[in-house]
Amino acid sequence: MAVAVNYVLITVFTAVWAMVPAYIPNNAAVLFAGERPLDRGRSWRGERLLGDGKTVRGTAGGFLAGFVAAHLLNGLAPYYAPGFTFAASISLPLGALAGDVAASFVKRRTGRERGEAWPGVDQYDFVLGAWVLALVAAPDWFLSVFTPPVIAAVLVVTPALHLTTNFLAYKLDLKNEPW
Ligand code: CTP
Ligand code: MG
Repeated sequence: MAVAVNYVLITVFTAVWAMVPAYIPNNAAVLFAGERPLDRGRSWRGERLLGDGKTVRGTAGGFLAGFVAAHLLNGLAPYYAPGFTFAASISLPLGALAGDVAASFVKRRTGRERGEAWPGVDQYDFVLGAWVLALVAAPDWFLSVFTPPVIAAVLVVTPALHLTTNFLAYKLDLKNEPW
């Protein structure tokens, strides 16, 4: 029993640790958000390409925050936690932001306004983006860290973390919607 609990705790710890550089960017983007939209205000078929919710400063600041976080974690890392290679420290934050941007693109194509909740997609778009880019940019690193149990732990823990941080950001008046 104790061994099983230990195993679950270490797996969840590894999952959250390895995902921090992917968790930070979209939250940091809320803090860094600027005025200039990533799509430069352009529309396609009568709808904004991405919308005013994806800004140049938010994206750049979010990336830097995730990148720095990966290197700070490398400095703190206990022996049982995975370290981040340079490729991982770039692909996780960049992929997380790209996943969120891609979701905005699809939202605008499917009649969803800026800020509208899209349950399921909002909680996983950045996870998928981070994983795909990390798998491409750092395949050996990705496969050694994200074993099937760690992937399962990420899929279970992420929505809870996402809902909690966004609700807190909303309560702190940092974000317009609680999701
Ligand atoms: N943000 C940003 N740049 C990003 C992502 C987010 O500047 N790449 C900022 C924006 O101010 C955005 C806020 O963080 O409004 C919240 O992010 P998010 O919920 O992802 O954007 P939404 O406003 O909901 O827009 P969308 O409907 O396009 O997702
Ligand atoms: Mg939103």
